[in-house]
Amino acid sequence: MKKITKAVFPVAGMGSRFLPATKASPKEMMPIVDKPLIQYAVEEAVAAGITDMVFITGRNKRAIEDHFDKAYELEAELEMRGKHELLRLVREVIPAHINCIYIRQTEPLGLGHAVLCAKPVVQDEPFAVILADDLIDGPIPIITQMVDVFRQHPCSILGVQNVARDQTRQYGIVGSTPLEPDIEQVNGIVEKPEPEDAPSTLAVVGRYILTPRIFHHLEKVQAGAGGEIQLTDGIAALMREEKMLAYRFKGTRYDCGSKLGYLKAMVALGLKHPEVGGEFAAYLDGLE
Ligand code: UTP
Repeated sequence: MKKITKAVFPVAGMGSRFLPATKASPKEMMPIVDKPLIQYAVEEAVAAGITDMVFITGRNKRAIEDHFDKAYELEAELEMRGKHELLRLVREVIPAHINCIYIRQTEPLGLGHAVLCAKPVVQDEPFAVILADDLIDGPIPIITQMVDVFRQHPCSILGVQNVARDQTRQYGIVGSTPLEPDIEQVNGIVEKPEPEDAPSTLAVVGRYILTPRIFHHLEKVQAGAGGEIQLTDGIAALMREEKMLAYRFKGTRYDCGSKLGYLKAMVALGLKHPEVGGEFAAYLDGLE
């Protein structure tokens, strides 16, 4: 069985729900307290033993490349001023053994197309896909949980959570049968169904382990809703051919691609922050 060593981070979306903040920089660079969303996502992959980070970037790609690159002038300046703690934070953004690979998606043709752009690097290995705007705070990092499931069941695995039935039109929704606690065998997947048409309320959120066969299917997918090549369509075709599981991960997910989800994440992680959490809690308590 092959080990999961590569994670794909699609970061080439328009981020239109966050304009004007995303006019000149990607939404994945928006911070939750003091770290950008993409750093939380990369840390999750590192914790799972993944070593190759494949970023699918678009216009405004520079900020992400710079964030994971060595910042010579900044480091020299901090060193000169004796700011050792800040220097450590800057140097520890990414461990030295991690490779960062950047691939440009020339047009935002959809999430499925973004994942397909990773094919030349991923080649014939199973891999993880992490959407940084879905920030998931759990007792064990979510991709670690999913890699553990993959060890038992080496097949494609979708990270899922239950949503309210009136929200199904915002997600890919799976049809499935229970296999083990928290693990379902997927037998259908529909993109953004109306509540009355949804096969269940189990929604796919931004964590996937996929077999390389997905590329074969994504190459054939035609543009669907909104003129975009949907990852869900590729997954639906893959599911007809190979075993596929849905895993109900343990953790709280914040949809940081939406303003409300972003604010909730800021409050939740702000309250846990070692430096400001206590004072922030007192401040919130004092609000009307
Ligand atoms: P979203 O559906 O959230 O779209 O993409 P978006 O364009 O980023 O944001 P809105 O809806 O305009 O506000 C889900 C993920 O897929 C990536 C995005 O960067 C995000 O991480 N994506 C989407 C791409 O990399 N390329 C695409 O063509 C589309």
